[in-house]
Amino acid sequence: MNERATLKINEKGHLEIGGMDAVEIAEKFGTPVYVFDEAHIRNMMRAYRDVIDNDYDGFGLVLYASKAFSCKAIYSIANQESIGVDVVSGGELYTAVKAGFPTEKIYMHGNNKLVSELEFALDCKVGTIVVDSYREADILDKLCKERNLKQNVLIRINPGVEAHTHAFVQTARTDSKFGFSVSDGSAEDIIKYVLSKKNLVLEGYHCHIGSQIFEKQSFVLAANKVLDFASDIKNKLGFELTKLNMGGGFGIWYNDEDPKLKPEDHADYLKTLIAAIKNKIKEHNLKKPYLLIEPGRSIVGEAGITLYSVGAVKDIAGIKKYVAVDGGMFENPRYALYQSKYTVMLANRATEECTEKVSVAGKCCESGDLIAVDVPLPKAESGDIMAVLSTGAYNYSMASNYNRNFIPPAILVENGKADYIIKPQTFEDIVRNDVTPDRLK
Ligand code: LLP
Repeated sequence: MNERATLKINEKGHLEIGGMDAVEIAEKFGTPVYVFDEAHIRNMMRAYRDVIDNDYDGFGLVLYASKAFSCKAIYSIANQESIGVDVVSGGELYTAVKAGFPTEKIYMHGNNKLVSELEFALDCKVGTIVVDSYREADILDKLCKERNLKQNVLIRINPGVEAHTHAFVQTARTDSKFGFSVSDGSAEDIIKYVLSKKNLVLEGYHCHIGSQIFEKQSFVLAANKVLDFASDIKNKLGFELTKLNMGGGFGIWYNDEDPKLKPEDHADYLKTLIAAIKNKIKEHNLKKPYLLIEPGRSIVGEAGITLYSVGAVKDIAGIKKYVAVDGGMFENPRYALYQSKYTVMLANRATEECTEKVSVAGKCCESGDLIAVDVPLPKAESGDIMAVLSTGAYNYSMASNYNRNFIPPAILVENGKADYIIKPQTFEDIVRNDVTPDRLK
């Protein structure tokens, strides 16, 4: 367990989060349920914000990358913590707007934004749009012309940094569907193109080198490359950046192969990054750019746990023991997608010694529907409450109704209080958009 302020084991030997006994949460709200620790989320937002305030004179903004977990409540928290957000779809933008989030502090991403999404972004007066293709630059410029407005944009560039993480979440290699590569000249070409568009106001560059990264040097390398490039462009084209968005990607603890970082250790990544940026702008005599970072996973990942009820247990002698839970790949597809590792425990027997290694299976009709493989656990029995830790990022946001299972509800816990932030689905939700044409009746 990654010991932190509100995740602990209480005197009953139960897991506790946000001052609430996890077993009581499971009884009250049912399982499976996503549980989010509000204090942890706020601490992480503040940790990053404080570094920008203290080490960069407040000349920047933390953007919560809401693809990690998007619902109205999280935008309200981000707003209360005076940070911005990044959105990657009309749906995320709509959710933020519905939560009353100030749209000038929204950055819009996406490698293939729909025309309707760009129109919606303009209608909402989204602060900055990160341009990721010629097509997008054309469409955006045309839409702005029609509306007689100018839109602030960044260009997503690909500095060619390979971060040490799972191959599927590397995004800044030369072979990437995202951004414009510095090395082959395509970044320079798109800059010229965007500068020629009368209704687009180029503010600077965005880059994102991957996710679940622990090597601080990857971020330093990326910043150095982007600023070397920015200086080159200034010399060649006379364009100087006023904004630099270094993306997200700071890693979190999932199991004991990962370092256990405190909010201040995460903040240290940003300190290192800022130190590198300051050196580079001095070296190249660039004006200090407004700095943006986009952490998603590190803000909500460790803040979330998922609670399940143990159902069937199948022991295949000498081969494997499966402990099945009432969730599965429909609410946490990360093992199925990336063979991601998690720490699993029995919330109702949290002090008991782990005596066996088991695989945690879901309830979907497919063999690959696993949550964790070969994880230590006490001898689990039907009715036990299982907790999977660090599920706050990319679990709910990647959930589906596969097999027409319900996407679980989410609750927010704080100081002994628990509230729904996403209500449970019902069978009616499952068939809500189904239509039976007359000829089938
Ligand atoms: N900014 C951009 C442009 C991004 O593409 C991402 C993540 C972030 C920020 C936030 O990165 P973070 O701080 O969360 O690492 N589904 C995968 C992760 C995909 C990340 C995609 N982009 C997973 O479950 O591991």
